[in-house]
This record gives sequence, structure tokens and C-alpha cells, in this order.
Amino acid sequence: MSTQFSTSSEQWSSSWAFMMAAAGAAVGLGNIWKFPYITGMNGGGAFVLMYLICVLILGVPLLMAEIAIGRLARKNPAGSIAYLAHQEKRSRAWGLIGFWIISAGFLILTYYSVIAGWALAYEVLAVREGFLHASAHHIDELFTSLLAHPAQLILWHSLIMIATTLVVARGVQKGIEKTVMILFPAMVILLVLIAAYSLQTPFFIHGLTFLFHPHFEKLSAHNLLVALGHAFFTLSIATGSIMMYGAYLPKHISVAKTSLFIAAADTFVALIAGLAIYPLVFAHGLQPAAGPGLIFKTLPLAFSAMEHGNLLAILFFAMLVFAAFTSTISLLEPTVAWLIETCAWSRWQAALVSGSVAWALGLLTVFSFNIAKTTTILGLTFFAAIDYLTSNIMLPLGGLLIALFAAWIIKTSVMRTGLNIRQKYGFYLWLWTSRIIVPIAILFVMINVLGLGA
Ligand code: TRP
Repeated sequence: MSTQFSTSSEQWSSSWAFMMAAAGAAVGLGNIWKFPYITGMNGGGAFVLMYLICVLILGVPLLMAEIAIGRLARKNPAGSIAYLAHQEKRSRAWGLIGFWIISAGFLILTYYSVIAGWALAYEVLAVREGFLHASAHHIDELFTSLLAHPAQLILWHSLIMIATTLVVARGVQKGIEKTVMILFPAMVILLVLIAAYSLQTPFFIHGLTFLFHPHFEKLSAHNLLVALGHAFFTLSIATGSIMMYGAYLPKHISVAKTSLFIAAADTFVALIAGLAIYPLVFAHGLQPAAGPGLIFKTLPLAFSAMEHGNLLAILFFAMLVFAAFTSTISLLEPTVAWLIETCAWSRWQAALVSGSVAWALGLLTVFSFNIAKTTTILGLTFFAAIDYLTSNIMLPLGGLLIALFAAWIIKTSVMRTGLNIRQKYGFYLWLWTSRIIVPIAILFVMINVLGLGA
């Protein structure tokens, strides 16, 4: 069988390296850009509570399933799932699930890199001119003008894609591991510094109340769906990245503890980002429900009026770039591993080709904000269509299939080895959550999201 299923020879140098890489994949624009603004738009405390419940009940079992599958088979996601199906004497067509999730990650990368590019553009702006004493009009103008100029967007997007490709081309230990071991801790330190600043502002308590005081009357079915969907996106579930990283994991590590660590680190960063951002928003009489522009428009306005505003802006956007970059590298890796293992390409060749294709597809997102603003598919711009397709269809369906495959198709004894859970009850807790609760919850979300068209 070995000729049919080529196995990855790469491995993390330590379990710490894996944790940094996986937490780096999970923590990204979703935590710092998306979480604060969707919390703002969905009413605060009660929404946060729902999101936390989803992370724990849906997110952790799926993270565990993905890591265990990767580690049992030690291949790219498509190869891993096909291999395990083959072991169970099932059709290798199950491998299509892996192909599906690799494609989802690859498609996300195409637009994620463009938005990471905005963060890079803002970092350069913060360093070169700063936002101090800038007028609201000027700040608004900066964002509008960035989006209106394809050449600028292409420049930033290209820089992110080139850096991503180079890191992935250097391999797991020399490229990915080295990068995340520096960038992830640096990102956490920057975030804590900004939160410490917010802590001293008189509005800290407003931020705290907004995030943690639930107003259940503000909770609707739609909020619940947004919370569920975001729990998926933020943990990088069903994009192949976590499964891929699990394939490079040494045997002895506890999957349950690792998954809890990833979920906890991801949640911690999102909450700290909220605590860092909201006091600044409230202190300047701004609105938490400002939407996707919260970080790029509202926050610079807060920086413009703050004592150490320039320094904070530099720290903040640096942190955002680091967080996004540890995600872009993990979005590219599954495709690269798939090309290496399936087409027998060299790592450099695979990285260069897939990086270039992702770059080219990213142009669709770039143009969605300017020259192709009015070109739509089913009423959505290219960017909105890719986002909708991946977040609302590909990720939930991928998660559903992973849960079904891991909990119903793979023999329980094999899964128990893969998960490395000693206690019987712990294993059954995972098994029945994944067999029943996860699929039902996901179906509920999908039917509602698609049915409501939200
Ligand atoms: N979790 C990332 C974030 O919150 C986004 C993301 C989704 C992702 N799937 C991924 C990142 C796969 C890396 C790999 O920003």
C-alpha cells in the first residue's frame, strides 16, 4: 500500500512548536478584526456567551477529531482520510472530504491574504505618518482610497503571498515552526500591552460590561447562527490546517489537552482583543456596532485622539499583521503537502505553484472593491461570494463530514488510539458529542443560514 499512500516525513521538533503553530493558525483576523465587530453588531454579552458555548461543545470535539485523523495517518488531509477509510475497508471516495476541506482553506487564503494586506498597509501608514490629530474625514478617506486603488491592494496582497510562499517552501521545521515561534508570542505580548493601556482608561469598565454582561433579550436565532459560524471560522475547523498540523505531531501528545489549549488560546486572544478595543471605542464616543470598518476606521480615530496614539497604532497593526501571517502560512500548507504527496513535486515547486495560483485568485477579491464592484454572482461581489461559499457552505459541511467520518466510520478502537484518551468516560464523551450533538448542531445552522439566506 505504501506506494499508493505516501506519508509525510516531516515532524514538529517539539509539542510546544505544534501548539504555537496550531494556536497561530487559529488566532488571526477572525479574533482581532471580526470578533470585536460582530460582537458589537450582535449586542455584546449574550452573544459572547453563545460563542463560548459553541467553541466548547462544537469546536473542541472537532479539533480533537482533526488532530487525531492527521496523527493516525500522517498525510495531507485528503490522503489521511482516504487512507483511514481504506483501513476500514470503505471506499477511498471518503478522501473527497479531505479534498473538500483543502479547497476550502485554499479559497479562504485567496481573500484572507488581501485583508491581511490591509493590515500591512495600515502598519506602514502608522509608522510613516501616524494618525495623531488626523480628522475623522481624513481617516475615512484613507480607507476608502486604499480600497479604491487596485495597484495598492495588489502590492500589499503580493507582499503577504510572497512571504507566505517563502516560509512554506522552507518546510515545517525551518519555515513554519521558526516563524510561528517568534510571531505568536510577539503577537500575544503586543496585545497584552494594548489591553494594559485600555485597562487604565476610565472606560475599561464599559468595555468589560459590554463584553460580559449578557442581555438575553438581545439574543435572536440569527445571533446564535452567527456565533456558531464564527466559532468554526475562528478555530480554523474544516480547512485542513489543523488536520495537517496534526500529521506532523509526535505520538505521545494528549490530543484532548492540546485541543483545549488551542481553543483556550484562541478565545483568550479574542476576549483580550475585545477588552483592548472597546474601552478605546467608548472613550471616544464611537459606536461598537460600526461593522467591518471598526478596526480600520473607528480605531485609528481613537488613536488620533490618544496620548500615545501613534505608538499604540504601530503596536496594534503590527500585532494584526503577525496574527494574520501565522494564519496565511497554515492556509497554504495543506495544499502544498497535497501536491508533494500526490504529484510527487518538490516542496519548493509545490509552494511556488500553489502560492501563485492563490495570488492570482486573490485578484478577484482585490477587484471586488474597485473595478469589479458592480460585477456580481447571485448579488454578491467576488469577495462576498467566496466568503459566503466558504464560511456558510464549505466549512459547516466539512465539519459535519469530519464528525461523521471520525465518530461513525473509523472504528472506535482506532479513534481511541488516535485521540490517546485513557479514561473511558472521556472517550465516550467525545464519541457521543461527535456522533450526535455536533452533526445536529451543524445541520441546524446550515439549514437556517441557507434557508434565511443570512
Ligand atoms: N482562524 C482564522 C482566524 O480566526 C481563520 C481561518 C479559518 C484559518 N480557517 C483557517 C486560518 C485555516 C488558518 C488556517 O482568523
